[in-house]
Amino acid sequence: MAFVIAVDGPAASGKGTIAGRLAALYGYPLLDTGLLYRAVGVGVLASAGDLDDPIAAQAVARALDLSDLDRAEVRTRAAGEAASRVAVHPGVRAALFDLQRDFTKRQPGSVVDGRDIGTVIAPHAPAKLYVTARPEVRAERRWKQLVGQGEAVDFEDILADIHKRDARDGGRKDAPMTQAPDAVLLDTSEMTIEQAFDAARRIVEDARARHRL
Ligand code: C5P
Repeated sequence: MAFVIAVDGPAASGKGTIAGRLAALYGYPLLDTGLLYRAVGVGVLASAGDLDDPIAAQAVARALDLSDLDRAEVRTRAAGEAASRVAVHPGVRAALFDLQRDFTKRQPGSVVDGRDIGTVIAPHAPAKLYVTARPEVRAERRWKQLVGQGEAVDFEDILADIHKRDARDGGRKDAPMTQAPDAVLLDTSEMTIEQAFDAARRIVEDARARHRL
């Protein structure tokens, strides 16, 4: 069995950084599934389509090319907002399913980060983390990241974005963002990146020992 490390959690929880460092540590390929939804959102906007139109968004998702994920526009605040709007369409999620599922078959393992990896994409993943942090802490991290990328953004607007995204991604019974029952919760609110990575590494090592991998 491939050693899939599923890293889920809300926006700006630190899961992307943790996932990237775990991938480097184990030498596994990394898939940031948020980029897929961001690329779909950016694609809909580029064709002057309506983010709330499921047919338009699904067409973009079906035609998605992995090279679309490397474009700088997918990392902007607008792309994150667009992503969470197209991500509510079941047709978009279905169109992106095979690509993600195929990635989890890579040997000897992979790291996949998102919202529904431990529940929908790789429910049998031997290692699952659910990374979270308080909204104010996440907003501050996202604000610093965007300012670092050269975007002029207000902290209060970013905090409002985080609340809105939490409600959209996790606020319904069928919402993608849910902690798998067998995922280990990692609250990084009071942790430095080093501490969070160290805690994540221990969770993965425990899973590895349990699965004798
Ligand atoms: O993680 P990131 O902030 O890049 O994700 C952007 C948006 O894409 C999320 O707010 C969420 O709506 C959506 N998403 C999703 N399922 C995933 C990854 C991201 O619905 N596996």
